[in-house]
Amino acid sequence: MPGLLSAFPMAPMAGVTDAPFRWRLRRNGCRLLFTEMVSAAALARGNRRTLEYLQPPDLGPDLGVQLFGAEPEELALAAHAAQGAGFAHVDLNMGCPVRKVVRSGAGAALLLDLGRAERCLRAMRREVSGLLSVKIRTGWDAGSVNALEVGRLAVDCGVDIVAVHGRTRAQGYGGRADWDVIGELAAALPVPVLGNGDIASADDAVQRLRGSGVAGVMIGRVALSCPWIFRDAERLLRGETPRGAPGPMEIGDDLLRQIDDLESVKGAKVALLESRKFVAWASRGFSGATEFRRRVQEIRNLSQFRRDVEGFFSEAYPREVAVEAREPTKGGEWDERQGEPA
Ligand SMILES: Cc1cc2nc3c(=O)[nH]c(=O)nc-3n(C[C@H](O)[C@H](O)[C@H](O)COP(=O)(O)O)c2cc1C
Repeated sequence: MPGLLSAFPMAPMAGVTDAPFRWRLRRNGCRLLFTEMVSAAALARGNRRTLEYLQPPDLGPDLGVQLFGAEPEELALAAHAAQGAGFAHVDLNMGCPVRKVVRSGAGAALLLDLGRAERCLRAMRREVSGLLSVKIRTGWDAGSVNALEVGRLAVDCGVDIVAVHGRTRAQGYGGRADWDVIGELAAALPVPVLGNGDIASADDAVQRLRGSGVAGVMIGRVALSCPWIFRDAERLLRGETPRGAPGPMEIGDDLLRQIDDLESVKGAKVALLESRKFVAWASRGFSGATEFRRRVQEIRNLSQFRRDVEGFFSEAYPREVAVEAREPTKGGEWDERQGEPA
């Protein structure tokens, strides 16, 4: 059984976990990451823009590429291409709830078609010589919770790691993640299970790790505004005192580095567009954040944008109220740049 590289991996997030954000997460102590989900159909066709999602394979074996698709041969070809690009870890998305994706039979739709899921996983296993993982939800809806069945099937197909978001497809991001189902899966499967859903702090992550029997706790939305959660969770697990949030200057510097990286990877125009949401997340909990966010939406020039970000964080001070750091819940998991799924 392969060992896990980290007890606290970052959840794959379309439109978010690109290379510059992964580098920032890495600076904040995150050791196991995934790419945004990548269309297997497009990758199998050698689509240039899709290949860009794989550039650069920056983190060695600590970076998994997540594929979505519903055609076994396409998934096998895509897995082959991903390995050719340097990825030693390939993941299949079996949890995406987005209509466009499930309509093509991919994502969470695979939870309803276990015959197809099996063919997909076996085809990928034949191709993947490194780690093969799968990310599922607990089921399609409340009446068809089948994570145990799906998990066992995945293990039977040779999957090395099973990650489960404790919600059904029907729940989307509403309600609460069901950590009882996650715990049952962890107890039943002979491979590492990663539990995911609603982690809001380092303390939460460690409690879930200890209380549910999972091998790892996958962290999602909270990392958008509190990327240091990884460093703190690792510290807590080792019995050390967590450091807590860095000061505003440090947060600002970290963010500016991400913006620089975005510019070098994607160019100034895209960097400006994509930086806005990261700036909004990073400014949560600081006084004057709402006004600042409104202001930076209007800026059309990356140098001016940088100056405003620097100015805000050099003068910012935290509000006293706790930050509820769980957005966004809408629109995720699908990135129009990938075009229609086949
Ligand atoms: C904006 C956004 C994009 C997401 N993209 C993906 C994705 O590409 N692949 C995937 O498996 N899950 C995706 N997810 C789901 C997350 O990986 C995770 O399962 C979910 O956010 C629950 O974890 P959390 O409560 O810690 O955020 C996405 C979620 C959001 C909010």
